[in-house]
Amino acid sequence: MAIDFIDLKAQQARLRPQIDSAIAAVLDHGQYILGPEVKQFESELAHFGQAEHAMGCANGTDALLLPMMAWGMPRGVAVFCPSFTYCATVEVIALLGGVPIFVDIDRETYNMCPDSLRQAIEGVKAEGKYTPWGVISVDLFGQSADYDRLTPIVREHGLKFIADSAQAFGTTLNGKQPLHYADIATTSFFPAKPLGCYGDGGAILTNDAEHLRIMRSVHMHGSGRDKYDNVRIGLNSRLDSIQAAILSQKLSIFEEEISLRNDVAKRYIDGLKSNTLRVPSVLDGVVSTWAQFTVEVPDPDALGAALREKGIPTARYYPKPVHKQTAYQDYPIGAGGLANTEDAMSQVIALPMHPYLEEDVQDRIIEEIKSAL
Ligand SMILES: Cc1ncc(COP(=O)(O)O)c(C=O)c1O
Repeated sequence: MAIDFIDLKAQQARLRPQIDSAIAAVLDHGQYILGPEVKQFESELAHFGQAEHAMGCANGTDALLLPMMAWGMPRGVAVFCPSFTYCATVEVIALLGGVPIFVDIDRETYNMCPDSLRQAIEGVKAEGKYTPWGVISVDLFGQSADYDRLTPIVREHGLKFIADSAQAFGTTLNGKQPLHYADIATTSFFPAKPLGCYGDGGAILTNDAEHLRIMRSVHMHGSGRDKYDNVRIGLNSRLDSIQAAILSQKLSIFEEEISLRNDVAKRYIDGLKSNTLRVPSVLDGVVSTWAQFTVEVPDPDALGAALREKGIPTARYYPKPVHKQTAYQDYPIGAGGLANTEDAMSQVIALPMHPYLEEDVQDRIIEEIKSAL
């Protein structure tokens, strides 16, 4: 039987009647844009995310853009970000005319390395060409970044701090979600994300009511009090009522799904630990949502090919980090360099991971990996 990399069908089968009736309710009332489901979901999401406010938007990329636009990020400023991430983290900085400065990752967790961040900020300050403005850290593969060490550095330099939690909504560090440590936390509801919808969607979490007010305007073309007078340049970036309705159903079982993902991760770690394969590590005090289960081997393409022959899908995140990609290769690398990023990119490979991975299927995956190595 074919194995799914991420099985969305099992979850759908579990929730299908509730999802059908949630969609039917939207079709009945007809408020497809900003219907009551959006407000309802925003309030549930804020509660789950330990935030005072949540705002839905069109996708996880806009979730990064909207707070930066609402803060009025000036053109030409430096924004520090990892290269070992999905391109969107860096894209939004460049789109707004900022200068992404690439920061290295911690070699164990793949998240932003605090020492490298400090070096990058100090390097930019010493050079004097760009003014440091902000930091976007990423909670990669489901795991909270090391905010205990990152946040004091960001605060010391008086920078804005965005937690790009597109892959990790629900992760906690010392029981606190990323917003506790940053100014803004964002997420994506792309279908394959741990909390995904059936289309594109995203959200922003904040405790700042005034910033929220401006973001709400920006996500509706910069609307003001007068319907015919737009007061700022904005976007059209709203979460659909149908997606919000679906997300409310999925959120109702999300806590349990995070726990199931942790069971799957533990089984993988116990079954795969060996000298030839490196299993992922989770920082002390972190609960990961395991968006990906990433292992390292000397030849990940060979392992991927061997597993494909056995009907086991894998994926590579990220064989070409953002600083290596055509559109981004001319942006500056922070003073600390990117040695860990360069080392990890040639070894990482992600295995099938979802809350409904059955034990016998997982055992088969583990056995096939062991015999391929
Ligand atoms: C780290 C990170 N940031 C931002 C995004 C953008 O999210 P979306 O695809 O919903 O725009 C993604 C999506 O894959 C991501 O992984």
